[in-house]
Amino acid sequence: MLECLRLSADTRWLDLGAGGGFLAEAAREEGQGGAAVGCDESEAFLAGASVYGLRAVADYRRLPFADAGFGAAACLAALHHVEDPLLVVGEMLRVTAPGGTVAVGDVRRGSPAAEFLNVFVDEHTDLGHRGRFYDVDGFAEIVERAGGRDARGTAHRVPWTFGGRGDARRFCRDLFGLRPGTPNGELDRALDGVGLAESDDAWTLPWDMVFVSARA
Ligand SMILES: C[S@@+](CC[C@H](N)C(=O)[O-])C[C@H]1O[C@@H](n2cnc3c(N)ncnc32)[C@H](O)[C@@H]1O
Repeated sequence: MLECLRLSADTRWLDLGAGGGFLAEAAREEGQGGAAVGCDESEAFLAGASVYGLRAVADYRRLPFADAGFGAAACLAALHHVEDPLLVVGEMLRVTAPGGTVAVGDVRRGSPAAEFLNVFVDEHTDLGHRGRFYDVDGFAEIVERAGGRDARGTAHRVPWTFGGRGDARRFCRDLFGLRPGTPNGELDRALDGVGLAESDDAWTLPWDMVFVSARA
């Protein structure tokens, strides 16, 4: 995602659907970008995201920011929540200065990770999960239809690494908010379906993502 964003050291950038600030923390660790602004509809998630200079609790379909105020805008793993992603990408382009970069990333349509979310997580959480996922071409088409120029995309298999199967279980229970009564056996079968496997000194869960960037 950060490779797509190509943040300069002084770029003020917007992280949409920021959650707990994972992307901005990675940018800071890698010395990329200037001040980051985090925006999410969840006050609870943003409350724990101290990495941002400014936090805005808002719906990403109608952003509380002026036109062209940011050098770049990103939206990681959040567009699958929205029925009309054109609205969100249109807002990202509106608040990004001409020539700046907008980048979106999400789970790849048709991948084992997408099935895990929309079948297993859907069944074992109170809120359920009905994500709308895209392949590279579908994502790029959305970005271009919203007004982005020269959209470019890639698919990546991102390995999540764990110390053991127990760590993978705990992480997924917490991240996805699985009901406490969800049996370990069912979770194990679902994670094995995604491809959880032991390698030399770690366990990896392959998570298929697509990333698309374009110029405002
Ligand atoms: C899977 S999390 C991803 C968080 C973060 N980008 C990351 O990669 O760790 C999806 C985020 O989208 C946010 N979100 C969902 N619908 C939203 C909306 N309508 N407006 C703003 N944020 C929204 C959720 O609150 C959540 O924080």
